[in-house]
Amino acid sequence: MSLRNDFFWGGSTSADQCEGAWQEGRKGINAVDVMTAGDVNTPRAITLDIDPKKNYPSHKAIDHYHRYQEDIALFKEMGFRMYRFSIDWSRIYPNGYDTKPNEEGLQHYDEVIAYCRKCGIEPTVTLCHFETPIGMFKKFGSWLHRDAIDCFVRYCETVFKRYNGKVKYWLPINEINTMTDCPWWAGAISEDASYKERMIAAYHQLIAHAKVVTLAHEINKENQVGSMYGGIFSYPATCHPDDIMANETFMKNYMFYVDVQNRGYYPSYKRKELARKGIVLPVQKEDDDILRKGVVDFISYSYYNTVVVGKDTKDFDLISFTTGYTNPYLEKTKWGWEIDPVGLRYSLNYMYDRYQKPIFIVENGIADYDVLEHGSVQDTYRKYYLKNHITELKKAVDYDGVDVRGYLWWGPLDIVSSGTGEMKKRYGFIYVDVDDQGNGSGTRYKKCSFAYYKKVIQSNGEDL
Ligand code: BG6
Repeated sequence: MSLRNDFFWGGSTSADQCEGAWQEGRKGINAVDVMTAGDVNTPRAITLDIDPKKNYPSHKAIDHYHRYQEDIALFKEMGFRMYRFSIDWSRIYPNGYDTKPNEEGLQHYDEVIAYCRKCGIEPTVTLCHFETPIGMFKKFGSWLHRDAIDCFVRYCETVFKRYNGKVKYWLPINEINTMTDCPWWAGAISEDASYKERMIAAYHQLIAHAKVVTLAHEINKENQVGSMYGGIFSYPATCHPDDIMANETFMKNYMFYVDVQNRGYYPSYKRKELARKGIVLPVQKEDDDILRKGVVDFISYSYYNTVVVGKDTKDFDLISFTTGYTNPYLEKTKWGWEIDPVGLRYSLNYMYDRYQKPIFIVENGIADYDVLEHGSVQDTYRKYYLKNHITELKKAVDYDGVDVRGYLWWGPLDIVSSGTGEMKKRYGFIYVDVDDQGNGSGTRYKKCSFAYYKKVIQSNGEDL
């Protein structure tokens, strides 16, 4: 038996991609609520005011807000031990800067958490999975302003106290490194923001993150708080030293966030880079202490693919994962993401060597244009993807000694794609009858992979 007996198998979603009910329960408007649908060739547009003629997929999504019991019961049937979901910040503090929380929003998550517990599933909560209330953007520029720190801390304190003893695992900010390439997703910062502005917003997020880690520990010493890295892992294009150094620099652009969250200070390479570019961070005298105290308990990250980087990499597109190079040894999904199970083992080693802390894979999965036939989907390709990734994860545990605590599939039921806003980019073990326009019965159907994941979980990863 290679995996721990208490290994957390399960799945992850985010509120903005599955809840819908965007105006119910006195909810405010978050950054994703103003993003239109796109597709593999068309980027999502951001319209600060809602245009009734446009399609905003988060508004209806798959109605998890009303159907969460049915969905969590299906997760229970698969044997989930953990369900990671996000609390939508704009349900608790509709504008972000409000001083009193919205009781209706809190009550909703009371019920979701209680239902997870009733099903024997450990709830893991992401506190912001791209759901920054746009009230903060309109009032003071969101994370560009230091006021955002107090707003986030107030929100987290409310939630930590409300669910004290009911939720143990917390992820304050989903894929914090997306601030570098997709600042609107990361924190309602304009996609046209300069690099300097992105680094200032990131600084405020890192200070806020450290503060809420300390706060979570003060409220309950059993709380476990993790960093959540958007899994960018790159290979050098060749063994030419210039490609090696280009790759090293590329990785550091993203790893610095996790370095700060785990080590409690800005790494020297980042300080040198900012100084070279003439970027002065808005540091206040208490900040070093805040960062030093607020280091995380564990590492978590999403893992979908790897990329190739070399001296000619000029731009990186985080939605399509293009770097100017492709890996000739790997196949790609229909959205161009390279499929690399061995890369999962590589990434686990990379992260464990760097921090020596327990690791949770909190997102992994493959999407396709699944078609419902006779009440199911023959998604054999998804079983292979799962089998190959779990095989490599087990090697990381058995051969390399990496301390892996859990594996969560992304989108265990079909939800709206974050990058493209499509419904037809489906990851689920459960097919949801909703199309790109939000039409459909919403009925849930088990795909063939449903029984496969159930078997994997039952055997604790032995029967692949
Ligand atoms: C992760 C995000 O980066 O990738 C999720 O945390 C997202 O929100 C997932 O859904 C897959 O990306 P996409 O664009 O296929 O939905």
